[in-house]
Amino acid sequence: MNDVASVRVLVTRRTFDEVLERLRRRFDVDDNQGDQPLAPDRLAARAASCEGIITAVADPVTPALLDACPKLRVVANCAVGTNNVDIPACTERGVMVTNTPGVLDDTTADHAWALMFAAARRVVPSDRWLRDGHWKAWGFMDWHGVDVHHATLGIIGMGRIGRAIARRASGFDMRVIYHNRRPLPDDQAMACGAAYVGFDELLSTADFVVVAVPYGPTTHHLIRARELSLLKPSAVFVNIARGGVVDDAALVDVLAGGRIAAAGLDVFENEPTLHPGFLALDNAVLTPHIASASRATRLGMAELAARNLVAALEGVRPPSLVNPEVVPRTA
Ligand code: DGY
Repeated sequence: MNDVASVRVLVTRRTFDEVLERLRRRFDVDDNQGDQPLAPDRLAARAASCEGIITAVADPVTPALLDACPKLRVVANCAVGTNNVDIPACTERGVMVTNTPGVLDDTTADHAWALMFAAARRVVPSDRWLRDGHWKAWGFMDWHGVDVHHATLGIIGMGRIGRAIARRASGFDMRVIYHNRRPLPDDQAMACGAAYVGFDELLSTADFVVVAVPYGPTTHHLIRARELSLLKPSAVFVNIARGGVVDDAALVDVLAGGRIAAAGLDVFENEPTLHPGFLALDNAVLTPHIASASRATRLGMAELAARNLVAALEGVRPPSLVNPEVVPRTA
């Protein structure tokens, strides 16, 4: 094994000091604490001599980047999603890929609920209206929204995050239905009080539709005009999964035409550049990909990414290895 102090690693985005300190005790660390996202050529130049990189969701790990980094042994993605990483290309080159599952489920589920409530009860436009000085008298007929309690919650994608969203519904006396590649084992379905239904049935019967699937070729534009046309006119649509799972142009169309009640969106195609139509909508609550952004959870993610990186570079199987077919190389 190399003398670890001579092992060079790159942390591509700003992170917690305590995590960086821990890495610095073991490795020669190049960090990007200026926090400007690194363009592909800058990323390749900074990573060229590294054996490990801690990447963020907006860092594309492409074959070109991998070819520019011949010493690379691990890409520790500081996210549960790995759609920014070309995993087959990493595997082919013997590069381990890790992610951060588990530590962000509850925080992400909380944010899905924040979006559901904000969209259903028109929190953002009414706040803006008040601040803009329009509140001259209390109005019985003002700002009617949609009830959350006793409604039907439909969840598409019942992984850990989908199940955490479902578990929260019992406090609001909701019926929960879900669609997934395959039905959950009975004990898991019972634990979150959710019933399996077909995809179209979910879209046409749920009052709240929440998308929580990973993004990849099979889920690209899973929700497009056809699927949106099945939603109830009173439906609230929430996406905390990934931009690209939803055809944003089709969603803008449906919201602008008032064909559903509202949407709560944390992720977008081509983020941070949004479809311009979103910005004009009063019936969409938009947040900048922050579903996992509580301090405690982001720290948990950073720590897990660092643990994965350290393990990989010290020849131990990382706790959350995404491509276990890569035989760990100890150099
Ligand atoms: C993830 O972990 O994939 C989130 O989208 C970023 O926190």
